[in-house]
Amino acid sequence: MRHIFEKGSNPNKPTLLLLHGTGGTEQDLLPLAEIIDKEANILSVRGNVLENGMPRFFKRLAEGVFDEEDLIFRTKELNDFLDESAEKYDFDRKNIVAVGYSNGANIAASLMFHYQDALRGASLHHPMVPRRGIELPNLENKHVFISAGTNDPICPSQESEELHSLLEGAGATVEIHWENRGHQLTISEVRAAADWFKNL
Ligand code: MLT
Repeated sequence: MRHIFEKGSNPNKPTLLLLHGTGGTEQDLLPLAEIIDKEANILSVRGNVLENGMPRFFKRLAEGVFDEEDLIFRTKELNDFLDESAEKYDFDRKNIVAVGYSNGANIAASLMFHYQDALRGASLHHPMVPRRGIELPNLENKHVFISAGTNDPICPSQESEELHSLLEGAGATVEIHWENRGHQLTISEVRAAADWFKNL
């Protein structure tokens, strides 16, 4: 997968896995990593799917309606890429924390829904429920931060609540942060994510 890897100065810190939103690239979330932790490794990945020229992490049939078969395939592809990258760049595979926005948050949530040890934690900005009707792995000792907008037309607030309870039901420790805004990624939610990250 197309990506950027930047080695951090402190090998004990988690590797930050940055996952952009629809139409983004691996450059987009680099400034977030700077705010969240300056010492951590950064692995920033570009989604392999193109929708009218816009990179995404998996196909969708319509806005908010995911192509489940592709989601499953792409989730495995990303999980395998994490395995390969940990070997190639020599970082701890068990200590990856995702930071995803929108479509990137959805694939991060999907990694947690499908693979018990894909991530140690995730900061999910404006996520949706990636899949329904499946049993989640045991997510005890996994940490999730969700930030959501009370007026988000793409991710309604019930959807964020549902994701919260599904992850918590699987044993994860989940914190939810609300912004009285829409789908946009705000500096205040990134600062809240940085505070959450410090206490991991
Ligand atoms: C998705 O397709 O993952 C969500 O609708 C969010 C987005 O627009 O990327």
